Amino acid sequence: MNHDASMSVVDGREILWAAHSERYSKVKNDHFLNWKIVNEAMTYGPFDKVVYYERPWLKKTRQFYAGQFGTALSYTEMPQWHLDHFGIKIDQYVKHHDSHAAAGYFTSPFKEEGATILTVDAIGEWETVSISTADKVWIDRKETINYPHSVGILYSAFTHRCGLKPAEEEYILMGMAAYGKPIYKDDIYEDFVHQAPFKMKKNLHKGLSDWHPEADVMDIAASIQAVIEEILADLFLRASKYGSKNLVYAGGVALNCAANRTLANLGLFDNIWIIPNPGDSGSSLGCIAASEKIHLNWKSPFLGHNIEGEYPVDAIIKELTENKMVGVANGRAEFGPRALGNRSLLADPRGEDIKDLVNGIKHRQKFRPFAPAILEEDVHNYFDLPTGVKSTPYMQYTAAYTHGKDCPAILHHDGTSRVQTVSKTDNEGFYELLTAWKKATGCPILLNTSLNIKGMPMVNDTKDGKLWTSKYGVKVL
Ligand SMILES: [Fe+2]
Repeated sequence: MNHDASMSVVDGREILWAAHSERYSKVKNDHFLNWKIVNEAMTYGPFDKVVYYERPWLKKTRQFYAGQFGTALSYTEMPQWHLDHFGIKIDQYVKHHDSHAAAGYFTSPFKEEGATILTVDAIGEWETVSISTADKVWIDRKETINYPHSVGILYSAFTHRCGLKPAEEEYILMGMAAYGKPIYKDDIYEDFVHQAPFKMKKNLHKGLSDWHPEADVMDIAASIQAVIEEILADLFLRASKYGSKNLVYAGGVALNCAANRTLANLGLFDNIWIIPNPGDSGSSLGCIAASEKIHLNWKSPFLGHNIEGEYPVDAIIKELTENKMVGVANGRAEFGPRALGNRSLLADPRGEDIKDLVNGIKHRQKFRPFAPAILEEDVHNYFDLPTGVKSTPYMQYTAAYTHGKDCPAILHHDGTSRVQTVSKTDNEGFYELLTAWKKATGCPILLNTSLNIKGMPMVNDTKDGKLWTSKYGVKVL
C-alpha cells in the first residue's frame, strides 16, 4: 500500500516474480493491491513469510507531528487492514529506508567488495535520506536526514508549482528543465533550502503555492533541477567519505536520470548500482532482502506477468519497415517504471516526422523526448556516457548524442537522450531485434517508449495488447 503498490515473491536467493499493482487494476500508480495481482503472486505460494516495506506505527508519529491527524487516526491506513481482504498476514515490518537500501544493495554486484549505500526519497516514516556502509550481508547506518528536510518533497513541491501532479509527474518536470534557464536558483536557496549540509528552511509538504507567479515554468524547472543536483552532489560527497569505490543509490530520487548524469560525472565512485525500480514499488523486493539479509540472484528486471512466445523479431522489422512504428508485448513484464523492450512501443528513430507520429499516438507534451535503445557495442559511437558508466541497460542516465542530427526523434532539447544499452544478457530477444534492425538499416538504434494508453499503466497481458491495437491501429506483436 503506497503510491505505486507492488508485490514480490522470493525463494531463497531467487526472485520468482515481482509486479506493479497498477498493471493489473489499470489504475495508474495504484495505491492498493487487487485480487488479480494477489492471485498471480499466489501461483508461486503459499507464502512462508510476508514482509511489509514500512513501519506503520512509526509513520503515524510523523503524521501526528505533521498535523495529519485524520490520516494518523484512520485504521484504513493500516496495511494489515488492507491485506485482511486477501487473507494475507504480515509477519514483519521493515523500515522504509532500510527497504530501499536493501533493494539496492542485495541486488547489486558488490556482494564480495561491499559498498556505500545512499537512499534519497520524499519520505519514509520519518527518514528522507540515509547513508550506510555495507559489508557482506551487514548494512550499517551511518547518517540519516529526517522529515521535514526532504529532497523529494522539495522537488515534488516544485512539480506542483509547475502545474504537474506531485509524487507522479516529477519526470516531466525533469524534462522541462532543459528548456529553461536556472535564473531562480539563488531565490530557491534564499527562500527554502540550505545546501550543505542539506536542510529545509520551510516545510514544503503542502507545496509552495504561487511562488514567483510571473515566472516561466521552464525557468522554474531548470532552477529546481539545478538546486537538487547540487544538493545531491553534496550527499554523494558525504557518501564518498566512507571510502568505498562502489555506490548503491536508491529511493525515488534515483529515477532522476538527468541528475544521475551530473552525479556520475563527479567521478567520486568507480561503480554505481541503481536497481531499475529504485522507488517505493521496488521496496516490495527490498523489504524481503532486508528481512532475510541475503544477496538476491539478480538477472534482469523482467520479473512480471509472462506473455508466452518467441520474441517476434522478423514481424517487428516488417512493421517498422512498412509503418515505422510497432508495439511489442512479449515475455515477462518489466518491474520498474521503464519499458525496456518487453512492453514497448518501438519506432524508427530516423527522420523529422517520427516524433510527431509517436506523439500523435501517445498525446504527450511536445517538449518531452523519446528514449533510444541501442546495441551496447555501438553506444560509444553514438553517445558520450557519463564518467565511469559503461552501460545503462535500465535507462538511468542521460547522455550527450554525438552522431550529428540523424535521429531527431530521440534527442532532447539539450542534445541528450535517456539512453538504454542492450546486450545479449540484458534481453536476448530485444538484442536480436536491434541486431537485425542494424543489419537492415545500418542504424543500431530504435525509439523505445512505454506501451500504454494515455493516463493508463503499461500494457500487461495479451488482452491489453489487443485493446491497444484496436484503439490506436498500431500492431502489438
Ligand atoms: Fe521511498
